[in-house]
Amino acid sequence: MTAQTQRVGVGRTIPGPRSWPLVGHGLSVLRHGIFPVLERSWRRHGDMFRLDLGPKRIVVIIHPDEVERVLISDRDSYYKGASYDFFRVLVGDGMVTNEGETWRARRRVAQPSFNKGVVAALAGKMTAATETMLGAWAAKLEVGAEFDIYEELLALTMWIIGDTLFGLDLRGSIDRSAEAFTVALEQLSVRGNEMVRLPLHWPTPGNRKLRRALATLDETVHAIIRGRRESGERPPDLLSALLAGHDEHGQPLDDRALRDEVITFFLAGHETTALALSWTWFMLATHPEIQAQLFAEVDAVLCGRTPTADDLARMPYTRMVLHEALRLYAPTWSGARDVLRRTELGGHAVEPGEVVMYLPYFTHRHPEFWDAPEQVRPERFTPEAMQTRHKGAYLPFSAGPRMCIGNHFSLMEGALILAMIAQRYRFSLSPRARVEPQFQITMRPKYGVLLRVDARR
Ligand code: HEM
Repeated sequence: MTAQTQRVGVGRTIPGPRSWPLVGHGLSVLRHGIFPVLERSWRRHGDMFRLDLGPKRIVVIIHPDEVERVLISDRDSYYKGASYDFFRVLVGDGMVTNEGETWRARRRVAQPSFNKGVVAALAGKMTAATETMLGAWAAKLEVGAEFDIYEELLALTMWIIGDTLFGLDLRGSIDRSAEAFTVALEQLSVRGNEMVRLPLHWPTPGNRKLRRALATLDETVHAIIRGRRESGERPPDLLSALLAGHDEHGQPLDDRALRDEVITFFLAGHETTALALSWTWFMLATHPEIQAQLFAEVDAVLCGRTPTADDLARMPYTRMVLHEALRLYAPTWSGARDVLRRTELGGHAVEPGEVVMYLPYFTHRHPEFWDAPEQVRPERFTPEAMQTRHKGAYLPFSAGPRMCIGNHFSLMEGALILAMIAQRYRFSLSPRARVEPQFQITMRPKYGVLLRVDARR
């Protein structure tokens, strides 16, 4: 990809494609989808450009300097406002969408459950769930069989979140909840791209689907909370921490807050990791030489054993492969902040009411920071290379205080699952595979990731 990398001078208007009265660039987005419009604009206008979606002005930033300014050094000028409203329909005021003191109090409650040592203790649950999945694969997958690894990994990561954070055995109910999450996310993505959003109570087919999915999820989540309360048990997990937690006024979290957090963690904690791993296997299936190097490390370190959290420190290549997939296929490919107060960004004034959008997908391909950005090279993630690179150039988990709380959790989970699958299977892309990213709230493989299986042992 060749992009102009020129910086924009102070005082000039922010460049952007030609805009139409009233609709701005909305018609192009409706006709082509948001992604092609963003890609073309980056090529033509460089690292900072504007798009008008109806009356809403979006300022798009790609350069790591500006991204760091918004997420870290000038973060108090921004907040998660109306641009997150469509997501609030699903997760309410959970940790991803909350702001200010309420957010700070919730993060304080949840943070101890995600510290490195606590997360390391969850490795056994993660590998046990993966072992069960692999057992089922062994029974159903013959050599040469083809299957969609994304579906399998979605079920696995949902099971792991249920087990590790909420003490649930989800076997049997995963299908229903996973289906409800998928439907809700799809409908929300459609709503997110609409210039005029009809109220949720209007009986359009999309709204009806969304309302049904939300009812299923609410029912599941309330049952989880009720079940734990009634059991009187308080195992050391996130659900116990939430039930014992307090809000910014020192009051216990109410039922609404608990519902919003449980649904937030279920969603944020499973789909992203399943996507990261599915894209990793797509990358490996199309790069047999990297797959072979991964097998060599996994075999040498584990000698056929189930991995533990401690093993991972001796498996740097496994970690580098995951990072390279997170660079090229960042599940959270875009992010946004509403402007809270007038401030300066890239030499321009941005105003309250405007939205700043940052795009890890493009920042991760910025030619100033990544040599031959489209090439797959796990070596970009040696500790030395990571030390010297601009911190804002690699953002799969975002940056600053709102950085993903689950980053250690998902990197450990991802490495364990990747290693365990690599111990047993070699994959190539099915000749029937049609792997295309779909740029919704997350970057999903539109038609799944259809792989051809070969057993390694
Ligand atoms: C590869 C896997 C993952 C990726 C790529 C990812 C990515 C992200 C990103 C980019 C954000 C910032 C979102 C924003 O500012 O709008 C975020 C926030 C968050 N993530 Fe993750 N995430 C992953 C796994 C997880 C896991 C496993 C959990 C929980 C178990 C989790 C829970 C959260 C929560 C609660 C937040 C909100 C944090 C806050 O605002 O304080 N994520 N994640």
